[in-house]
Amino acid sequence: MALIVRRGKVPATPHTEFYSKSGVLSLEEIHGTFGFSGAFSRKQHFRSYPTEQVKPPKKSSINLALKPARDATLQPYHILTARMPYGGDFVSSRKPIVFGSSTVVSVAKPVKSMPQDTFFRNGEKHECFYVQEGQGILRTEYGRLALRKGLYLIVPKGTTYRLELSSKRAYILIIESTYPITFPSHYLNIEGQAKMMAPVVETEIETPELEPPKDEKGSFFIDVKHSLGMVTRLTLGHHPFDLVGWEGALYPFGFDVKNHHGIAREIHTAPPMHQTFQSGNAPYNGFSICSFVSQMEGWHSKDIPAPYAHYNVDSDEVMFFSNASYGARKGVIEPGSFTFHPGALPHSPQGKAALRSLTARGKMSDRLAIMLDTFFESLTITEWGYKYRDKEYPLSWHKAAIAANGQRAEALHGT
Ligand SMILES: [Fe+2]
Repeated sequence: MALIVRRGKVPATPHTEFYSKSGVLSLEEIHGTFGFSGAFSRKQHFRSYPTEQVKPPKKSSINLALKPARDATLQPYHILTARMPYGGDFVSSRKPIVFGSSTVVSVAKPVKSMPQDTFFRNGEKHECFYVQEGQGILRTEYGRLALRKGLYLIVPKGTTYRLELSSKRAYILIIESTYPITFPSHYLNIEGQAKMMAPVVETEIETPELEPPKDEKGSFFIDVKHSLGMVTRLTLGHHPFDLVGWEGALYPFGFDVKNHHGIAREIHTAPPMHQTFQSGNAPYNGFSICSFVSQMEGWHSKDIPAPYAHYNVDSDEVMFFSNASYGARKGVIEPGSFTFHPGALPHSPQGKAALRSLTARGKMSDRLAIMLDTFFESLTITEWGYKYRDKEYPLSWHKAAIAANGQRAEALHGT
């Protein structure tokens, strides 16, 4: 993140004498990436180190271990996440759908806030949330961020947080990566600033609002995810939100999907034009996240707005349909549909999508979908994903083609 942010008070010169209040030396912590060579923030704790556990660590009651579906075959998947159950809080309700060596995609449908004085920290993955439904506050050590429909939230690995709901329930897509999740490097100039042609502008991010430091003693539980989904509970004797101030380039932030300013072309616009975030050294590893927001379809006199069939062999593609206004899958998807197209197979629009799309030429679309393409990483469907799959999906292209051809034949014969 190019935007250097400062909240609260920090000494101008790092690692120099600085007091939280008279007689209380503030203790500094570096939250860093890429072995102290990447983005980092320096945090000034009120009086305690974040290492001060007061009880031995123990296994948490939460288990986020990944379970591949035993009966899975190579096929395009359509997973009906809207039909998955609500329940639990933001951590306990997480249900992984697909995962690979560095990526996990889950759905959480919480109905309550996390328990008081209980926190979560993902110690093995950076996180991106996309809010399909719900409202609340993501309280982090860096400050608070409001949560609402249509918001992406990027939370760096190692951030301590808790989610408090103000709505009765929420529905959140969670994308995790071993690598930091940032705006794509090709959108940035040599100063790290978003180029003027980029579809994203860093000044539109929502940064945390730091609250006064909590100088409190007690028992505070932090569930830390590590080692492929194991969760260990730490107990601190002081409140973890004890920062007097922080400054740096590594912090949680929000980005409204509507702030992805789509780039239209005279002819069909390929997926890289829709990219909002990247993870890792894309396109050599990691992934890209694309936002298919409302924008003008191609206006060439013979443009076909529907996409082509595509065989994107170095990527597994997952797509979350926030609404069902997506022409290429019309009649098959519903809001909350999650498609998973492995790189080992081509995929395409369905039925008469190409023909039907001609009427959309030069008009505004009303779609809203999120896509993730991995790079050189195969994904595996989990038991949860397999359980909520649409069993008809692998043959849906064939059935749609029969229906389309049947209708066309009827039209030709005037019946
Ligand atoms: Fe695709």
